[in-house]
Parts: sequence; structure tokens; C-alpha cells
Amino acid sequence: MTKIEWMSVRLGTLAFNVTAFQMALPSNACAIIALAMDELQAIAAEVRACQRCALAASRKHAVPGEGPADAEIMLIGEGPGFHEDQQGRPFVGPSGQFLNELLASAGYRREQVFIANVVKCRPPGNRDPLPEEIAACDEYLERQIRAINPKVIVTLGRYSMAKFFSGAKISAIHGKARRVNGRVVVAMYHPAAALHQPALREAVEEDFRRLPEIIRQAAQEAEADPPSGAASGGEQLSLF
Ligand code: URA
Ligand code: SF4
Repeated sequence: MTKIEWMSVRLGTLAFNVTAFQMALPSNACAIIALAMDELQAIAAEVRACQRCALAASRKHAVPGEGPADAEIMLIGEGPGFHEDQQGRPFVGPSGQFLNELLASAGYRREQVFIANVVKCRPPGNRDPLPEEIAACDEYLERQIRAINPKVIVTLGRYSMAKFFSGAKISAIHGKARRVNGRVVVAMYHPAAALHQPALREAVEEDFRRLPEIIRQAAQEAEADPPSGAASGGEQLSLF
């Protein structure tokens, strides 16, 4: 064997070993998280400069959302209110305080979950977001979901519920995990609504307390029956 041939065999073995080594390393997971972080930062920058709908004109700050790129749980609210618009962060007003308490009751810290909204800019006077505003903003939310790839999505209130369960009534489905397009989604009452209505408050408190169990069961189901990509036409499977 010539020296050149010997070197190319050595280099080939080395390349193979490096690839095998990288595949075995958890640093691959780090690389995936780093990519997700890049994408989330890119989305946030686009949102802050976004002019896609009329809400851009009246916002003080856009609210892209916040949380770790590898969050197991993603919470999706409706849209920024007064305090969120002032600070550019989601759920920082009274409903945010209540949300923090709900998370704590489930054993989670706020910093562990990703918090986003259906629309990223405040509707004036906290009016409901319009269908065209939700549609204009949806691509950002879709990209956030894809980047984070959470184990469970928790929708807060009617508008984020409608994204996954069109036509459903929240009184009928709250707290029940369902698989929608291969993802586990749980609809819950909005903390702002629940804050002042004792019956809803009790329901949302109970639903949050059950969240760890829901996630455990979802993980077991996924292992036993791996999601086969997108289910046809938004088919909803009742899990538990
Ligand atoms: N309500 C929401 O739906 N989202 C927020 O970020 C704050 C209040
Ligand atoms: Fe853009 Fe969404 Fe803000 Fe509308 S609500 S301007 S689509 S970021």
C-alpha cells in the first residue's frame, strides 16, 4: 500500500468514527436545541418588525413569546393585553400572576414552559382578535410549534382552542388530552376568564393539577403507538 493509500484508509476510518461518535453523543440533542433557539430568535425578530396586519399600527411592543427552545409544555394564549404590550412579554399582568400559580400547582416553574399567543400584537382595548389578524399571525405560531416540538400543547381560552378543535365547546373538552395532527393538545379555560368566575377557576385549577399525569400518559401512549406524522384532516383522537 502506498503512503497516500494508507492515509486515505486512515482518514476514512477516522471520518466514520467521528460520525459514529457524534451520533452517540447527546451533543446532537444540543445541536437540535441550538437550531431551535436560532429559529425562535429569528421568529421573534420578524414579529417585532411585522406589519402583516392592522394590529401593528396600535402596538407599543409586539410580544413574540418566551421560554426554552426544548420546553416540554407550550402554552398558547389569545393575545397581549395592556401590560404585555407595555413590556413586550406574554402573561405579565394579573392573568400572568394567576398562570404562574397554576403552573406552580402542577409542579412547574414558568421558566420551564414556552408561552406564546395566537396574535402577537395587542388588539386595541383588549377586543377579540379578528379572523384576518389570527390568520396573518398564524405562520409565526406554526413555526414556533415546529421549532419547540413540545410534548404537550395547552391552549388557554377560545381562540387558541379553535386552532386545534374547530367548533368545540370549551365546557365540553377542557382538561381532556387529545391527539391532533400527531400532537397532544389540552384545552383549558383562559386564566383571565377563570380569575373572576369561581366555577371556571375551580375547573382550570383542577385541569392544571392533572397536567403532569396527562404528560406522563401522553409519553407512554407515544411510545406504544408512535404518532405517524399528520393525521388526516385534523382528525382528533381521544387519548384519555
Ligand atoms: N392574555 C393572553 O391571552 N395572553 C397574554 O399574553 C396575556 C393575557
Ligand atoms: Fe404581525 Fe401578528 Fe402583529 Fe399582526 S399581530 S402585526 S401578523 S406579529
